Amino acid sequence: MNQIWIEKYRPANLSGIIGQKGNVEKLKSFVKTGDLPHMIFAGPAGTGKTTAAMAMAIELFGEAWKENFLELNASNNRGINVIRGHEDRDGRMDGMVSVKDYARIMPSNPRGFKIIFLDEADQLTPEAQAALRRTMEIYSTTTRFIFSCNYSSQIIPPIQSRCVVLRFRPIPDAELSEHVLEIAGNEGMKFSKESADAVADISNGDMRSAINLLQAAQYSGDYSPSKIYEIAGTAEVKEFDRVLIMALEHMDFKKTAELVDHLIIDKGLSGIDIVRGLHSALRRSGIEPLKKSEAIMAIADTEFRLVEGGSDKIQLDYLVSRLVRIGSQFN
Ligand SMILES: Nc1ncnc2c1ncn2[C@@H]1O[C@H](COP(=O)(O)OP(=O)(O)OP(=O)(O)O)[C@@H](O)[C@H]1O
Ligand SMILES: [Mg+2]
Repeated sequence: MNQIWIEKYRPANLSGIIGQKGNVEKLKSFVKTGDLPHMIFAGPAGTGKTTAAMAMAIELFGEAWKENFLELNASNNRGINVIRGHEDRDGRMDGMVSVKDYARIMPSNPRGFKIIFLDEADQLTPEAQAALRRTMEIYSTTTRFIFSCNYSSQIIPPIQSRCVVLRFRPIPDAELSEHVLEIAGNEGMKFSKESADAVADISNGDMRSAINLLQAAQYSGDYSPSKIYEIAGTAEVKEFDRVLIMALEHMDFKKTAELVDHLIIDKGLSGIDIVRGLHSALRRSGIEPLKKSEAIMAIADTEFRLVEGGSDKIQLDYLVSRLVRIGSQFN
């Protein structure tokens, strides 16, 4: 049976989680006491937030974990409906399980509570979060909430103050690479340490994308590091290097802007893709430290402006201008 590896290799217990030591210890101690506080799991994608919540539910509830653990995603319905349940115009419920519906059901386990895991909770509007806070209070004896998000600052203060916050970190490259090698071995692939390091380099601490990349490599049948980069779509890696050299070493605005246009128009990359690609390329590069740190600041500014809604074209020209200036300052 073909199974996607991210599910096949999702650790079924807390001890199987890579990295996140402090968090795992805390969760184990909660399991030991048999009770949980409400929690916020904050951190980047693919670092084990959902996995840790599931593993904990399995350790707490055993076989019955599925009836006592509800995973809801806030982002496909950002408003209040996830919280209250949705009535259509004729007053019928639309069939989606809401937090409130689920919170009402009594737990079917001796612990006396069940877990609601709300993914992407930072995507909920403040109004929806306020409704959620009331639900938390009403059902606090029978329900524990775990909010998963990238940034805990997007969660309203009254919810934050009712929760223990656990921060999930990007998985360190060495541990990620080792885990990838282990899975490859288990799948009977002859996978080199160099290729595993390439996977780690590309994945930026995201174990989900690392495992997906490994599985894609298996389909392709070629496990060389260069093939790994190619599969990851980071054939652009070299092009990012070229942008940096053209701006920081040759200080040529026109040519750099053309290279960036090529990434947008021919490669279909977004402003954010380009900024992140340039960031990794810069981190990897041998560019001298002072120049590098100035350039990182320019990239960070641009990322912020893009996230705040600035236009791709203008912000990328802004970035290119700054990189060219940094190039000339330090030459
Ligand atoms: N710390 C980890 N240890 C071992 N495997 C992991 C870890 N983190 C992620 N994985 C692997 O990646 C897959 C996805 O991880 P998970 O669903 O826990 O990510 P997440 O942190 O919830 O991400 P998102 O923010 O996108 O929801 C898991 O099924 C597992 O295979
Ligand atoms: Mg998740």
